[in-house]
Amino acid sequence: MNAILVGAGGMGRSWAKNLAVNPETEVVAWVDVMPGQVERANAELGTSYPAFFSLQQAIDEVNADFVVDVSVPEAHESVTVCALEAGLPVLGEKPMSTSMESARRMVAASERAGKVYMVSQSRRYNGNQEAFKSLLGEIGELGILNVDFYIGAHFGGFRDEMAHVLILDMAIHTLDQARYLSGLDAASVYADEFNPTWSWYREGSSINCIFEMSNGVRFNYRGCWCADGLHTSWEGEWRAVGSRGTAKWDGHGHMVAEVVAGDEGFHRPVDKLSETRHDIAEGIDGSLRDFLNALRTGETPRGECHDNIKSLAMVFGAIESVESGTKVGIRV
Ligand SMILES: NC(=O)c1ccc[n+]([C@@H]2O[C@H](COP(=O)([O-])OP(=O)(O)OC[C@H]3O[C@@H](n4cnc5c(N)ncnc54)[C@H](O)[C@@H]3O)[C@@H](O)[C@H]2O)c1
Repeated sequence: MNAILVGAGGMGRSWAKNLAVNPETEVVAWVDVMPGQVERANAELGTSYPAFFSLQQAIDEVNADFVVDVSVPEAHESVTVCALEAGLPVLGEKPMSTSMESARRMVAASERAGKVYMVSQSRRYNGNQEAFKSLLGEIGELGILNVDFYIGAHFGGFRDEMAHVLILDMAIHTLDQARYLSGLDAASVYADEFNPTWSWYREGSSINCIFEMSNGVRFNYRGCWCADGLHTSWEGEWRAVGSRGTAKWDGHGHMVAEVVAGDEGFHRPVDKLSETRHDIAEGIDGSLRDFLNALRTGETPRGECHDNIKSLAMVFGAIESVESGTKVGIRV
């Protein structure tokens, strides 16, 4: 299947490699608004994909089956709507867009066109996470889900100045993972954002959020991007508490659960369970395969826009809570 790739920055180049190694896909056009950007990317990768400045021009000139959007978040709406209006399905990078209003217009464009718009939420495709998800099936009815995300990330550049940097630039991954792991959607959030005295970010490097999920489950997100030493995994460090026991995952390869094995004693006796990595296609390889399967079979892929907008709503709900200082309802 022929792909038009939009965006030739760092992640666009990763997508070019991903599309090149997949036997089902071929890049027939590479679009970037920055002069020389596609040429530089082609030189770096040793490829010679035809370069375009505008998606519309590429659509008019090549024969494409779908569009992969790896442009900046501010351009996701215009790129996605242009592709959908031309009848082309879209696989776009996270985050869907920069506001809920914009994301809603994108979902509506997918409905109007009757074409798939999927957000590539790459951290949904992880063999260790699949193993942890199956352990969650052993602890009974879920009541509490906690995640810690503590990383000293010295990016430099725009993130140092960005408002709400952790929740806006990173937490979408973790919040989306929480929805995937629990199978639940968020109903409300109270969020407390702050910046430790030593932070190298202008603001918003750290945040604690309490989400109430659809059936009263509490999902607690604690994160900090200026925490040097003893980093958690980029997937987060998880604890889940259910009616029959507790499960933990370090975000890497270690996970364990203890489930109640008797009904006597101050501490109930438990059986220890563990699980090993499931063998699945991971990261953007996994999301590309999910998208291609959706095109082939009509099945709904994991990041389909009607689903993914619920993860985006958790981000904007948390920001609304920070700005209002109150608990707010999550509105999709
Ligand atoms: N899944 C992940 O783990 C992950 C990691 C990094 C980035 N991303 C996402 O990928 C996207 C791109 O990030 P990046 O790091 O490559 O950014 P980048 O700034 O390196 O590259 C973005 C490119 O898009 C181009 N562009 C901007 N507007 C455009 C438009 N209207 N049409 C065509 N091209 C346009 C820019 O000129 C630039 O070359 C972002 O949405 C980002 O959040 C995801």
